[in-house]
Amino acid sequence: MASLRLLLLLSLVAFINAKLGRQSESAIDELERYIQEKKAEINQRYRLHYHVSAPVGWINDPNGFSVYKGEYHLFYQFYPYDTVWGPMHWGHVVSPDLVNWQWLRTALLPEEEYCFSGSAVVDNDTLVLMYTAHIEDEDEDGFDQTQYLAFSDDGERFTKYEGNPVIPRPENGSPHFRDPKTWKHGDYWYTVIGARTIDDRGTVLLYRSPDLFDWEFLTDLGESDGTMGFMWECPDFFELAGKYVLLLSPEGVEPPPGGIYRSHITGYIIGSFNYTTYEFIPEVEFQELDYGHDFYAAQTTERDGKRYVVGWFNMWGVDHPENVDGWAGALTLIRELQLYGNRLLMKPVDDQVTLRQGSTNVTLQTNYGLSFDATGEMIVEGDLVQDIVLELTGNAGGQQVWLRWNSVTKIVSVDRGNGDVRQVDWTPIGSTSWRIFLDASTLELFCGEGEVVFSSRVYPDGGWLVFNRSVQPLQVTAFLLSRSIPV
Ligand SMILES: *[C@@H]1O[C@H](CO)[C@@H](O)[C@H](O)[C@H]1NC(C)=O
Ligand SMILES: *[C@@H]1O[C@H](CO)[C@@H](O)[C@H](O)[C@H]1NC(C)=O
Ligand SMILES: *[C@@H]1O[C@H](CO)[C@@H](O)[C@H](O)[C@H]1NC(C)=O
Ligand SMILES: *[C@@H]1O[C@H](CO)[C@@H](O)[C@H](O)[C@H]1NC(C)=O
Repeated sequence: MASLRLLLLLSLVAFINAKLGRQSESAIDELERYIQEKKAEINQRYRLHYHVSAPVGWINDPNGFSVYKGEYHLFYQFYPYDTVWGPMHWGHVVSPDLVNWQWLRTALLPEEEYCFSGSAVVDNDTLVLMYTAHIEDEDEDGFDQTQYLAFSDDGERFTKYEGNPVIPRPENGSPHFRDPKTWKHGDYWYTVIGARTIDDRGTVLLYRSPDLFDWEFLTDLGESDGTMGFMWECPDFFELAGKYVLLLSPEGVEPPPGGIYRSHITGYIIGSFNYTTYEFIPEVEFQELDYGHDFYAAQTTERDGKRYVVGWFNMWGVDHPENVDGWAGALTLIRELQLYGNRLLMKPVDDQVTLRQGSTNVTLQTNYGLSFDATGEMIVEGDLVQDIVLELTGNAGGQQVWLRWNSVTKIVSVDRGNGDVRQVDWTPIGSTSWRIFLDASTLELFCGEGEVVFSSRVYPDGGWLVFNRSVQPLQVTAFLLSRSIPV
C-alpha cells in the first residue's frame, strides 16, 4: 500500500514536471559535479581574475543581463563539455556590484532545443528568460528558430514554459530568427529579434505583448540596404538621454573602401522612436561600439537610470589559444554607456576601482619595464602633441602588443603584430589619458572619457611587462587588481 502511494506520488511529480516542462534538476546536478571535477584540471596560465569566463568549457554571447531581487544576473552561451562551440546551455553568474561575480548552477540545459541567446526580465517577482530555441530538423533549411520562455522564483532554478514557443518564426520568413531582447514600456512588453530577410539582408523585428505570452508583430526597426550585412544578431533597443539606440551585431558588413572584411562586428544606430507609430528614425549612421579585436554580441541592462553594457570578449573565426587549457571565451568588463553628441561613450563601472590595490607612480624609461604579476590597471599620461608608443608583452615572453597614438593622423591603434591592427581616430573631449586594464589574457584600452575603447585578447606569458617606446616620457599610475571571480 505504502509503495503504491509512493508510486502514485512519483508519477504525479513526473506529471507535474512534464506539464511545467521542467528540465531535470538531477541532470543539472550531474552537470555541476562534472564542472567541479573538470575545473580542477584547468591550466591557470591565461585564466582571468576579474572577467567572467566559463567555469569549464566554452562560452560566447552574454545573455539575460538583468537586475533581480537587488542583484545583477548575467548569463552566457555555454558548452561545458568541450572548449569549442556545441549544443548551447545557459551558464549563469550573479553580482552585487557588476565587479565581483559568483558562478551559479547552469540555468538552461538543451533538450529538444539548443538554448540560444536571449534576455531576462522581471515580472511578478519572477525572473523570466526569453531565449531562442534552435531546433535542428529535416526540412530544407535544416533548422528552425522560435522564442521560448523559462521562469525562476529563486533566480537560480528555471522551469521552461509548457506552452513554448511563444513566438513562432514568421511565415515565409528565413529560419534565422533569434536573440530576443525584451523590456517593458507602459502597459506592454516589447521585444526585438534579430533576423534575416529571404533575400539575405539583416533586419530587426519588433513585437509587443500584454503578458509575455501572446505576442504581435509590429514592424521592423531597420533593415540592411545590402551593405550592412546578411544577418543582424543580438539586437538591443533602449532610450538614452532622450534618444533611442539600436545596438546590433551584424554579420557580413561590407568593409569601407580599402578596409579589411570582418565577418562579425558590433555597433549602434542612434535615432528617435515613437511608441505610437513604432517608427524608428535613424539620425546617426551605424558606428562601431568597440574598436578592439575581440568584442561581439553586446547586451545591456538598466538600473537607476544607468545603462550598462557587456560584450563577448572573443571573435568568431579566430584561434582561442586558451582552448587547450580547458576553457575558451570570456566576457568584457561591464561598462556604463553615456550619450555624448552623436556617439556613445563607454566607461568601466564606478565600482571597478574597488579592485585596486597598492598603487605606484612611475615615469616609464626606455630600459625600465613596468611588471605586473597577472593583472593590472594603468593610467597613462602623455603629451598628445607627440606620438605615444607602449609595448606590452609577458614577463616570460609570449604575445606582444603595441598601443600607439599617432600625433599627426590622430589615430589610436592596437597592434598585435603581423599586420593584425585595429585603429580609429580619436578626438579627446576631456581627459587625454589612457586607462588600460590588463588581465591574464585580456587588454582593454579606454581613451579619454571613453570616446574610443579597444578590447583585445592578448596572451603574454608570466604576467605583463610594459615598456615606453615613445619619444617622450610617460607618466603612469599603476595598480595591482584583486581577484573578483573565484578560481
Ligand atoms: C504576472 O501576473 C499577471 C497578473 O496576475 C499575469 O497576467 C501574468 O501572466 C504574470 N506573469 C507571469 C510571467 O506569470
Ligand atoms: C508620436 O506619433 C503620434 C502619431 O503621429 C503623435 O501624435 C505624437 O505626437 C508622436 N509623439 C512624439 C513624442 O513625437
Ligand atoms: C600618484 O599620483 C597621483 C596624482 O598625482 C596622486 O594622487 C597619488 O597619490 C600618487 N600615488 C602614489 C602612490 O604616489
Ligand atoms: C621613452 O622611450 C623613448 C624611446 O625608447 C625614449 O626616447 C624616451 O626618452 C623614453 N622616455 C623616458 C622618460 O625615458
